[in-house]
Amino acid sequence: MVQQNIAAAAAQSADPFVPHFYRVGRVRRELPDTVTLELSPVAPPRPGFKPGQFNMLYVFGVGEVAISMSGSPADDSMFVHTVRAVGAVSGAISALESGATIGVRGPFGTSWPVAEAEGSDVVIVAGGLGLAPLRPAIYCILANRDRYGRIAILIGTRTPADLLYRHELEQWRERLDVDVEVTVDHAAPDWHGNVGVVPALIPRLAFDPHNAVVFTCGPEVMMRFTANALLQAGVPSDRIYLSMERNMKCAIGLCGHCQFGAEFICKDGPVMRLDRISKIFAVREI
Ligand SMILES: Cc1cc2nc3c(=O)[nH]c(=O)nc-3n(C[C@H](O)[C@H](O)[C@H](O)COP(=O)(O)OP(=O)(O)OC[C@H]3O[C@@H](n4cnc5c(N)ncnc54)[C@H](O)[C@@H]3O)c2cc1C
Ligand code: FES
Repeated sequence: MVQQNIAAAAAQSADPFVPHFYRVGRVRRELPDTVTLELSPVAPPRPGFKPGQFNMLYVFGVGEVAISMSGSPADDSMFVHTVRAVGAVSGAISALESGATIGVRGPFGTSWPVAEAEGSDVVIVAGGLGLAPLRPAIYCILANRDRYGRIAILIGTRTPADLLYRHELEQWRERLDVDVEVTVDHAAPDWHGNVGVVPALIPRLAFDPHNAVVFTCGPEVMMRFTANALLQAGVPSDRIYLSMERNMKCAIGLCGHCQFGAEFICKDGPVMRLDRISKIFAVREI
């Protein structure tokens, strides 16, 4: 009863620091250290978000971390998040079982410009877990496939066993209107696909670099090499979008934890256009 009252109060609150209560629904183990959770609100409002945005997920008594949406924006009954256990909070989220309660603040941040990309070729470049924040954009684009030119999805991962969302990758690969390429750093004996880093796939792509929009997410070093390969291929820097990560606290531009040059990644990002950040993006360790 007390928890229900707190949940109702939180649901009505517009205070961005107050988490709303969500119930964990289906939990899918993607990889030994990575799970995808479906979270439904205990009380209204129903969740809505744009592809590329993130929530702050709060495990009571443990802490709060930024996690991107990985589900379809068309489904406003739940948030879907894919979480890799790397520390205390992400480990606690990954250990949650169906029926557990979790706190959610959000959604926060900028989004992939899926509407602005209509009429253009779209190239999506993911490294490892970077496919999670890109998946909502892929859902939107495939749902409106006829509004875009050529679509390429390039995915790099350490080994074939580290591939996320295998069942969906197979479905995307079967489509004749999407070019899906996967490359691995280290191949297993039964791997017959590409071996090497994901930027190496870019020169082989069939696309119009001057009329393409690129979305990329992954480790920063991977995005740096990807951006260089795209620029060399002739893609203008104002058509390349990256999703940046920094430790977050407030998520609303107040605390300064996520500062990146003159920008705050929680409100000016996480999705940022390369030409706006190119000077600072070229500097490592910022
Ligand atoms: C906008 C945004 C979106 C994110 N989306 C996802 C997502 O969809 N799925 C997911 O699993 N994770 C995501 N992360 C990363 C996630 O927030 C961190 O893994 C989490 O904060 C780690 O907290 P922890 O307490 O579990 O581990 P900690 O004990 O805080 O850290 C464990 C290790 O992870 C490193 N680390 C902590 N935070 C980050 C970070 N932000 N980036 C890189 N390394 C970090 C630490 O340096 C340390 O080595 C996102 C981060 C941001 C900023
Ligand atoms: S997390 Fe506080 S300013 Fe971005």
